[in-house]
Formats: sequence, structure tokens, C-alpha cells
Amino acid sequence: MEQYVIKGGHPLVGEVEIGGAKNAALAILAAAIMTDETVRIDNLPDVNDVNVMLDAIAGIGGMVHRIDRHTVQINGKKIHDISIEYDYIKKIRASYYLLGALLGKYRHAEVALPGGCNIGSRPIDQHLKGFRALGADVDIEHGKIIAEADRLRGKHIYFDVVTVGATINVMMAATMAEGLTIMENVAKEPHVVDVANFLNSMGANIRGAGTDVIKIRGVQRLHSTEYSVIPDQIEAGTFMFAAAATRGDVTVLNVIPKHLEATVAKLVEIGCEVEEFDDAVRVVSKGGLKSTHVKTLPYPGFPTDMQPQIGVTLALCSGTSTITESIFENRFKYLDELARMGANIKIEGNSATIEGVRRFSATRVSAPDLRAGAALCIAGLATDGITIVDDILYIQRGYERFEEKLRGIGGIIEKVSTEREIQKFKLKVS
Ligand code: EPZ
Repeated sequence: MEQYVIKGGHPLVGEVEIGGAKNAALAILAAAIMTDETVRIDNLPDVNDVNVMLDAIAGIGGMVHRIDRHTVQINGKKIHDISIEYDYIKKIRASYYLLGALLGKYRHAEVALPGGCNIGSRPIDQHLKGFRALGADVDIEHGKIIAEADRLRGKHIYFDVVTVGATINVMMAATMAEGLTIMENVAKEPHVVDVANFLNSMGANIRGAGTDVIKIRGVQRLHSTEYSVIPDQIEAGTFMFAAAATRGDVTVLNVIPKHLEATVAKLVEIGCEVEEFDDAVRVVSKGGLKSTHVKTLPYPGFPTDMQPQIGVTLALCSGTSTITESIFENRFKYLDELARMGANIKIEGNSATIEGVRRFSATRVSAPDLRAGAALCIAGLATDGITIVDDILYIQRGYERFEEKLRGIGGIIEKVSTEREIQKFKLKVS
């Protein structure tokens, strides 16, 4: 298994280029198979999850042509299978986006049931509710979701929970249903809007993405398009909190500042200086950061995918901070690892009370999931001495060239896989 080994304790300074949004790219790749014409998508992040999604599309007969690390051509004409095997779903839950895409296009789809994951049980009842509302028969047999419909008809659907996945999945199926679908209480994340814009560029008729109500007039056919994925607001925020935690001065490039409003608001609250440009944001922290309170909420609230990153930063801010995680039921596991670095934290249910400490002490920690893994790297970068982060495969699922980008702003971090390499690193940096 690979680890990151980090020598921390000095500020991160410089500029970092932000890549395409993983959570937009995964849905857009699934939606791309809904036409029999060729679709070209660029600004894809070169991360494991995207590569697994491309394998899943090729696995059912879709044509996938990688033009370069960040650009792919997809053609769904030769798809011969409407069944997505458990192997793909086990690797990335988002393979379930192929359910909405295949059901919309072929009126039939079979996708292995996704399990829970490290941050919660993650049910998909709202996805199934939406497909049934459109007229599909949806059964679960032998660990598979089987969705079939003679016809899909537009419907007025009210989601019981604001859910990114169900909003996108049902939007895809409704794109090729007959008539008008109105979806209410929908997710408004930038990546939901990006998928709607992508589908509209293929000839769909979707209005209202980014608001509480999305209206879709079904079309019979979708056509080719060329599309560029939006920048990843979560990757950007991760580097912004890395600047705050290490008392650095980092500018994230190729971002949409509007998508970062909740993150910027919290960075300013704890005492960082933030400067916004057209497609960049600069974060400067001179230390002496102070506590604040944060509750994760659906967009435009503070993103749950940024919760570990602000958690690490608040653990180094003077005073008492609180974090309330309102989206997932098990997203505080990283705080146990952080406590091993000397953080002073008390968890009660979905709330954590954090007493800021002056510094962490370096040790070996383990990444419990994607965003928490990135946050523990931030903790290591903010800490004098050598921190080792295990289980970094999680991080590689969603961050492209993570250690390279951190080195580009002065981080002393290497990917290693043996004890000998760790010793070599320690000698080199001592
Ligand atoms: C997406 O997951 C993201 N993943 C997650 O990012 C992100 O944390 C999450 O949205 C919230 O923003 C991708 O886009 C691939 P949800 P998703 O459906 O769609 C409940 C990362 O780090 N719910 O919005 O699975 C659910 O239990 C990942 O990149 C139902 O009850 O999230 C949760 O409490 C981690 N029934 C809440 O809704 C359903 O049918 C939000 O889940 C669906 C969801």
C-alpha cells in the first residue's frame, strides 16, 4: 500500500491550477452515452473514479477514446448491454448514474445496488422514487436494481430529501421521457447545473437547474456535443484551507469564485485575508486564526465535502469551534486520527466541539475516506516533523496529482510504499 510522507511546519506559498470537478465529470460521462453520436468532453480530472466510470462505459460496449489525460470522446451507439456489474459499483457508487442514463435511452437498465460507504449508509430510495414516478417498474433482485418501462412519462416529482445523486439521476431519465417533468426540492450544487447544461448542449430541454425547481420537457433524441467540465470547487477549497492551516499564501487558479462563497465566508470568519479575481482566489493567513461555527448544508450552504478540511483548520484556531454535519451520519472518523496528532475534540452525535490547540504533533495516521484523507495531509503540512498518511488510495480517487500540486506550492510531501523509502525521505529532509 502507498503512503504520503510529509515534512510539515512551514507555510504553503504559490499558485495551484484547479482541475475539472470530479462530481460533475462522473455524471456527465454517464449522460454522454444517451446519444448515438460522438460526444467530446474536456477538463476531465485524471482521477481513479473518472477512469473507473470510463471502464464501466466501455464495459457495456460504449466507445471510449482518450484524446489526452483530460479529454475523452464517447459514443454510445454500440452499447450492447444495459447491465452494470457490481465490480464497478463497488469501486465507485456514481456508476449508478448509468441507471438514469440507460433507463432514459433504452427504457431498461440493471445496475448493482451500491453499498454504504465510510461516511454513511447512503440510501438510494429517492432515485428509485423518481424512476417509478416516471413510469418505470423498479425491482431489487439478487443485489441488482432492475428498472424497466414501456414508456417514460413526465411527472411532478417532490424529493423528500435534497439529494445530488437522485436529482441528477432522475433528471437524466426524465430528459428522454414523454412530456413535462417538474422536479421539486432538488439539489442546487454547481455540478447539478453542469450536468443540466451538458444535457442541454446535447439537445435536451432542462430549465431551472440551480434553483429549487427543475422543469424538463422530454426529447426523443440527443445529439453530439463538445463540453468542458466546470472547475472542482472542492479541490479548490481543499487548497484554500491548506493555505489557512499552514499560515500560507496560496492562489487557486481556474476556479469559479461564485462556487466558493461559503468556503470564502468561513475563511474570512477565522481571520484569513481573501482576494477574489475573475477565475482565481487568493487566501493569505498570517496565523492567529480564531474559532467559528459551521454547519454543513446542501449548496449554497457550507459543503459537507469541505467538512474535514475546515475541521483540521479549526483544530488550530484559538478558542472553541463547533461543526455540525447535517448531511452524512458518519463523517467525523478523521477527528479520531486528528486527536492522535494532539487535537482537542469532543464528538456528540452529528456535532463536534473543537478546542483549538497551538500545534499538532506529527505521527502516523490513516485516511478514512477521500476528503478526510486530504484533510489529514493538511494537518501534516501544518505540523513540525514527519507525518505519514496511510491508505492514500482514497485520496487518489478524487485528487489529481495531489502531492505534485502540494509540492508546487512548497509542500514537502512524497508518495512512498516502503519503510526504506520513508527512511530515505527522512534523511533527505533532515
Ligand atoms: C454526492 O453524493 C457526492 N458524490 C458526494 O461527494 C457529496 O458529499 C454529496 O453529493 C453531497 O454533496 C458524487 O457526486 C459522486 P446525496 P450523493 O444523494 O449524491 C441522503 C466526495 O467526496 N439520501 O446528495 O450520494 C443521503 O443519505 C463525495 O466527492 C437519501 O436519503 O449524496 C445523504 O444523507 C462524498 N436518499 C443526503 O441524502 C437518496 O435516495 C445527501 O446525499 C439519496 C440520498
